[in-house]
Amino acid sequence: MQIAVNILILLDFRAMITLHTKEDLRTLLEPQKQNQKRIGFVPTMGALHQGHLTLVSRALEECDFVVVSIFVNPTQFNNPEDLAKYPRHLDNDLKTLSSLNSSILVFAPSAEHLYGAQVSARRYDFGALGQHMEGRHRPGHFDGVATVVSLLFDAVTPDRAYFGEKDYQQLRILETLVQIEQRETVIVPCAIARNSEGLALSSRNQRLSDTELQQALLLPRVLNDAFVSFGKNSILAIKNQVKAAFDQAPEFDLEYFEIADVDSLVPTLTKDPKKKYRAFVAAHIGGIRLIDNLELN
Ligand code: PAF
Repeated sequence: MQIAVNILILLDFRAMITLHTKEDLRTLLEPQKQNQKRIGFVPTMGALHQGHLTLVSRALEECDFVVVSIFVNPTQFNNPEDLAKYPRHLDNDLKTLSSLNSSILVFAPSAEHLYGAQVSARRYDFGALGQHMEGRHRPGHFDGVATVVSLLFDAVTPDRAYFGEKDYQQLRILETLVQIEQRETVIVPCAIARNSEGLALSSRNQRLSDTELQQALLLPRVLNDAFVSFGKNSILAIKNQVKAAFDQAPEFDLEYFEIADVDSLVPTLTKDPKKKYRAFVAAHIGGIRLIDNLELN
């Protein structure tokens, strides 16, 4: 009860609140729900950048109340080193969010609290959507993402949840998750935020040196070249052109470059004029894994 009173006082003073438990979150969100307030939700793993802030700003425009979660989800990392090195800057993140809007509610649970005693992923079947690209190269990744988003949705019960198109396959998986679990939450896709040179914003970029940041521009470059070539060249020719570009960049290790139609997300070598396609790339530089994608037609 005391917590609820404190929270309401804090809300009145419009100071940003950080909560660590589902119970405190419920206490605060229940009156909002009862007053038919629209709750917007931006799930993040922290190390916030302008891309996240764009999602939060959109949520603030479209909803009455916005929750941002900051939680580095262990079950979606198939590589323990990647999890250990994932940037964590909670204090900075809180400062950044409060400068954007002081009435944002931050939910930052511990893994044990969010998951319970067993911090493990559930098994989902997303069919072909989850079998290629990220699904193929990061086994178990989408089970981990879907599990944590499902747990977070249970805690926040959002009306609208905002996800960036940089993780395009994740976005499609989460749209499917909402259908499988028959949730009423609307998944709102948001365009990829890029820096002035075209690099897709990512928390992982913080680990790149200045030289690597320049070299990383190869990703948007091959995607733009694919965009230009798509109308006139075969998909095989485009894939060969991309492979050749990475062969010229020994600092990079290309994991995949694929073109897939946006409905099935199954990589293809043939074009159907009735379908929309996207190009997807994943590559490692200096031990850091980067992904990007671009609509082609
Ligand atoms: O996109 C991300 O940052 C994460 O995959 C998400 C959706 C917050 C789940 O941990």
